[in-house]
Amino acid sequence: MTATRVRPVLVAAALLCLLAGLLQPLAAQRAQAPLPKVHFVATGGTISNKEGGRLTAEELSKSMPGVERYARLTHEQFTNVASSELTLSQWLALSKRVNEVFASDKALAGIVVTSGTDTLEETAFFLHLTVRDPRPVVVVGSMRNPSTVGYEGAANLLEGVRVAADPASRNKGALVVLNDEINSARNVTKSDALRLQTFRSRDYGQLGVVDRDRVVYFNQIVQRHNEQIEFDISKVTELPRVDVIMVYQGASGDLIKAAVDNGAKGIVFAVAGAGATSGTQNEGLAYAASKGVFIVTSTRTGSGRIAPPQQRPEGSGGGGGNSQMPPEQQRRRQFTIAGEDHTPIKARVVLMVALTKTTNRNELQRIFSEY
Ligand code: DGL
Repeated sequence: MTATRVRPVLVAAALLCLLAGLLQPLAAQRAQAPLPKVHFVATGGTISNKEGGRLTAEELSKSMPGVERYARLTHEQFTNVASSELTLSQWLALSKRVNEVFASDKALAGIVVTSGTDTLEETAFFLHLTVRDPRPVVVVGSMRNPSTVGYEGAANLLEGVRVAADPASRNKGALVVLNDEINSARNVTKSDALRLQTFRSRDYGQLGVVDRDRVVYFNQIVQRHNEQIEFDISKVTELPRVDVIMVYQGASGDLIKAAVDNGAKGIVFAVAGAGATSGTQNEGLAYAASKGVFIVTSTRTGSGRIAPPQQRPEGSGGGGGNSQMPPEQQRRRQFTIAGEDHTPIKARVVLMVALTKTTNRNELQRIFSEY
């Protein structure tokens, strides 16, 4: 080999050695990097509802074999009740607590909240709309209790911890993890009273899955979430009363009147199809409008969207713009908001949160269109 050929080889070898020297400490550093920190907040539900007494946050934390491979876990007991027993003031307190934990620990990767499954979608969506941080809040439950053969609570909780610890879970809103699936709190609903695969995101599909090797995402949520959220519940002490009333043939308007007279600030009206109401409820609706109570229309079909009136094509029925309409009907329109694609239960959560910020009809409609 000539001297001119040897020189580049030597230079390349020297460079390689230099690179290896630089990378070695980095690799060592990575090997020693501490595991992500995850905080676990237990609220109760079937996941903890053992015969003879409920499992505590500490017991649940110890129920996950191998958790130490994924995260450093801390825990707290928020409450220990069935999900449907959680009060609205507890919702506020829970959201404030989650925001506070995030604010006080910048090194935290995410938070896991356990909940009963019956109303889990409501609590999760409330957190989705009120936690303003890019880090994930992951709501987890189980369909079988710890005294049952096939209890899946520890597996779901471990998957929830893995999702909360994973950087890919940031900026995806609040997440619901059960049965190896990750769903957005915005879209998910309990679709079956008993089956393990009950949590479905209607036609939208799941965001991702928790597989043996890793957490995998396939979809992203496009509506406003995380730091894009405009609601600040830190000073809110009470959520406004919002009731859900259904449209069905021959339904009476009395229930609407009763809700109004008992202090409802809003009513979600679970309409038939794309907006049909029962004529027998008209009087009740006019009464609500006369008292300044907002009516949000949301389809009772389980999927589909109710569009704001101005976006309906002329002649499609259900009331396009019409300055000729009688004053009572005009007033009703001033207090009616289209619930977009939210189910009645989710529309209620949006309205409760939105009313903490504004009572302007157009603003409320904008909020429904953006969240
Ligand atoms: N199904 C449970 C829930 O959603 C209730 C069981 C319980 O914790 O008592 O909360």
